[in-house]
Amino acid sequence: MADEAADVLALAVRLAREAGAIQRERYETRLEIASKSRPIDLVTEVDRACEAHLVATLRRERPGDDILAEEGGAHADGGAAWRWVIDPLDGTVNYAHGYPCFCVSIGVEHEGVRTVGVVYDPLRDECFEALRGRGAHRNGHRIRVSQAASVGTALLATGFAYDVQDTELDNLVHFGRAVKNAGGVRRDGSAAIDLCYVACGRFDGYWELKLHPWDVAAGILIVEEAGGRVTDLAGGPVAASGREIVSSNGAIHDELLRVLAGSR
Ligand code: IPD
Ligand code: CA
Ligand code: CA
Repeated sequence: MADEAADVLALAVRLAREAGAIQRERYETRLEIASKSRPIDLVTEVDRACEAHLVATLRRERPGDDILAEEGGAHADGGAAWRWVIDPLDGTVNYAHGYPCFCVSIGVEHEGVRTVGVVYDPLRDECFEALRGRGAHRNGHRIRVSQAASVGTALLATGFAYDVQDTELDNLVHFGRAVKNAGGVRRDGSAAIDLCYVACGRFDGYWELKLHPWDVAAGILIVEEAGGRVTDLAGGPVAASGREIVSSNGAIHDELLRVLAGSR
């Protein structure tokens, strides 16, 4: 399995860089943009072009694997040993506005266990990658989480789901608690990049409430392999859906959970 996992990682890196090249080439050009669940939930022709490239290449090079990709859903019957969980463009609203924060995110599970994670930011040419048990790297150099010791000076990040205007579970109470207690809070619009920034120590923590598996499939492994901790809001394991997630450098984790819960 180890050799095959290394091959899967190499392929994931190649694919992420290829899709990233499409994003870089089309960045700040005139794009076809449509909305999905709501007017603020966008998809561009570049999301679709990236996904089409990734899925077609995987179909050709690893025809037996399962694929879960954001825009097309499931591309296999299930039951394969390897499953690719793909966000072809994480940060679509940013991309549509020409705001330079977006990436390709590819997580690969083996027998249901997160085994490979790759996140590629094409504008900064930063490729974050992790292989279970082998650490996390950025452009070939080992990365580690920060050494921040308390939330009071920590730089945190979060995000808001596309139903934020229509629901009471909108993350605003948690956001308020974090703003009142942390060193700073950012909202940059790409969950996969937020997780990688926790992994490399730029952020000390990141949480969000209504994510999808493709947002976090790569980033969770990258944070864990960089020495960080990822849980749900109650401090338990993250659900397979990856919906609710709190990630940190580990040292501030329990305090961050208390801050978000409003119990300090
Ligand atoms: C979104 C981004 C954003 C997060 C949203 C996600 P998309 O993904 O990761 O940062 O706040 O919850 O849906 O739509 O750009 O792939
Ligand atoms: Ca996403
Ligand atoms: Ca996306």
